[in-house]
Amino acid sequence: MEMKLINQLAIVTGGSRGLGAAISKALGREGAFVAVNYFTNSKPAVETAEAIIRMGGQAAAIQADVTEEREARRLVKEAEEASGLKAGILVNNATGPQPELSIEEVTWEDYEDQLRFFVKAPLHMLQACLPSMKERKHGSIINIGSEVVHLGNSHFSNYTAAKSAMIGMTRSWASELGPTGIRVNLVHPGFIPVERHQEVPEEAIRQYRSGVPLGRMGVPEDAAKTVVYLASEDASFITGQSLSVNGGNTYGM
Ligand SMILES: NC(=O)c1ccc[n+]([C@@H]2O[C@H](COP(=O)([O-])OP(=O)(O)OC[C@H]3O[C@@H](n4cnc5c(N)ncnc54)[C@H](OP(=O)(O)O)[C@@H]3O)[C@@H](O)[C@H]2O)c1
Repeated sequence: MEMKLINQLAIVTGGSRGLGAAISKALGREGAFVAVNYFTNSKPAVETAEAIIRMGGQAAAIQADVTEEREARRLVKEAEEASGLKAGILVNNATGPQPELSIEEVTWEDYEDQLRFFVKAPLHMLQACLPSMKERKHGSIINIGSEVVHLGNSHFSNYTAAKSAMIGMTRSWASELGPTGIRVNLVHPGFIPVERHQEVPEEAIRQYRSGVPLGRMGVPEDAAKTVVYLASEDASFITGQSLSVNGGNTYGM
């Protein structure tokens, strides 16, 4: 079967583990050169890049703190140097810790921590990729949001506020960049257990699953397949949209 992303450079922030690793592998399987970004743990990043190479694809693990503008620019530069390609696909996926805090406990700094990952880092990454994408008159940005924007989870206003900001940001970027051939979309995953959820009690998972119309937990590949679709020409007339990947658990933008 023909691969959909040949000769494309895809940069996946936080691409080393969790959803990011599945996204990186899925993009690599479709022929993209994948820059697998990580922050502190090189091992899973190298393993993800090696898995892509074993499948016959191309990838490089690149360390960078994407919440810092200079680091975001370095990441894009190193990805372009490693691949010999210009940035074409950007997946803003990285996340730091996501503390659950009551309104009494939460501080403005807790809000800022989440905004750094979900607004500041995506902005710096977009700005770093933009010259290449504008030159090629082609690009696909996929921001990773969360179903919390529709659920409005209690004790999670810091995370929910930052993820909600991604909706307006995505639409505004899509309006501004549409005429240049660059598309911007947002994916809202549901609760998809990954390595960092090992401590979540089985009862909490069972309870969540019981409310999901499709009756199962999501797996990282569910989000990854959606990202590949939005990155590819199959979605060439889709921009400014939010797509929930959560078995029907929520509905809305
Ligand atoms: N899993 C879910 O249930 C779920 C549900 C809804 C939305 N989401 C969203 O999906 C995305 C991925 O979530 P996940 O659960 O897969 O996360 P995860 O497993 O915790 O992975 C986080 C990734 O981000 C990287 N990272 C952390 N700080 C960074 C920084 N400053 N610069 C660059 N990379 C950094 C980590 O690298 P190191 O290991 O090197 O630190 C790691 O690769 C997030 O945006 C999250 O909000 C997840």
